Amino acid sequence: MTMSVVCSRCKGDSEVCSCYDHLIPTVIVQCMHRLKARLAHYLETNQNLTEYHLTIIPTLQYGDLLFVRAENSAELIDYLLHDELFVRFTAGIYRCQYTTKMLSNITLQFSENDTNTYRLQLFPKSKLEDVIDTIPENVTLDPKKYTHIIQVVYAYNRYHFGITKVNNDRPMFNVLFSELEEVVCRAYYKLAEFFIVESVQATPNMKAIDIGAAPGGWSSYLATRGIRTLAVDPGALRIEHELITHVQKRVEDATEEIEQFGQFDLCVCDMNMHPTESAEIVLKVAKYLKPNALLVMTVKECEKNQKNKMYAQVNEMLRDEYTDLKERHLLSNKRERTLYGYKK
Ligand SMILES: C[S@@+](CC[C@H](N)C(=O)[O-])C[C@H]1O[C@@H](n2cnc3c(N)ncnc32)[C@H](O)[C@@H]1O
Repeated sequence: MTMSVVCSRCKGDSEVCSCYDHLIPTVIVQCMHRLKARLAHYLETNQNLTEYHLTIIPTLQYGDLLFVRAENSAELIDYLLHDELFVRFTAGIYRCQYTTKMLSNITLQFSENDTNTYRLQLFPKSKLEDVIDTIPENVTLDPKKYTHIIQVVYAYNRYHFGITKVNNDRPMFNVLFSELEEVVCRAYYKLAEFFIVESVQATPNMKAIDIGAAPGGWSSYLATRGIRTLAVDPGALRIEHELITHVQKRVEDATEEIEQFGQFDLCVCDMNMHPTESAEIVLKVAKYLKPNALLVMTVKECEKNQKNKMYAQVNEMLRDEYTDLKERHLLSNKRERTLYGYKK
C-alpha cells in the first residue's frame, strides 16, 4: 500500500499537485554530481546524437540525475551504452516510458499471463521493498537470467519506469569496461572525446605533431584515424604504428626533425608542465603549422584557485599566433581543461 507523499515544493499532496509536471524525461542518466553539467554538454553537442533531438531538462534537487527528453529513447540508450566515453562517466542509464505518481500503476505494465523474466534496476535502492511489493506475484524476477529489464527511478515524487526487451545479439545494460577497445592509456579518451564533441574530421594526408606524446595514447588515436603523426617525447611509446614517427627527445631539442616533417594540419600538446611553459613551446611550434591548423592543448590546473587567471594568461600568450581560442571542460579532464584554437 503506497501512502501519498508531501510535495517538496508546494507542501501539498504530491499525488494531486502539478509542481513537477514539466520534469517528464524519456531517459534518466545517473552520474556523479560534479560530472552532470559536462555530461549534459557532451549530450547536447555530440553530432552523432542530433537525430534524437534531445533536450536536457533543468533539474535542481537531484544532483546525481540528469533528465533527458529525446525521441527514440530505446535507440538512444542503446547508442549510449555502446559509447565508451559516456559509459565511463555514468552509473546508470534508465529508460522512462511512463511517469506516474502512483507506484501501483506499475502493475498495469504486466499482463495476467506474463511469461517474461525481468531484471529490476532501481534508483534509489531505498525504494526496493516498495517496488517489489507492487510487482504482481505472477511476474518472475531474476537478476541473472532475464528476457526483459524493468527500470524504475523515483524522483520528484514520481515513479519513472520503462521496460526493455533484451537483445542478445547486442547486449544492452551489460557493457563491461573490460569488453571495450583496449587503449594505450587513459589520456587517449581526452583526444577521442575532443574529436567527437568538436566534430573534428580527419582528412586524407593530414599531418599532426603530438608534443608530449608518451606513452602514446593521443598518437595512437590520431594514427587510427589515418593521420600521420610526429610524436615528440623523451619518454618511450607503448605502441608502434606505421603512421607514427617517434622523436625520442624533448621538443626543444627536436627542431630539425619537426622542420623536416612539417607543415602540420594539427598540433596537439599534452605535456605535464606549467601551462605558460607549454604555451611558450606551442608558440615556437606555430611556424611549422599550416594556416588554420587546429591546436589542441591541455592546460593543467597547477595553481589552486587561480585557474581562470591562468587560462586568461595562456590565452593572452597564444593570441600572437592563434585565433578563435576556446576552452572545453571535457568529461575526461581531471584538474585540467582543454584549450583549442586555430593557427592564424
Ligand atoms: C601526460 S603525458 C602525455 C600523455 C599522452 N598525451 C598520451 O596520450 O599518452 C605528458 C608527457 O609530456 C612529456 N614531456 C614533458 N616535457 C616535455 C618536453 N619538454 N618535450 C617533450 N615532451 C615532454 C613527458 O615525457 C610525458 O610523457
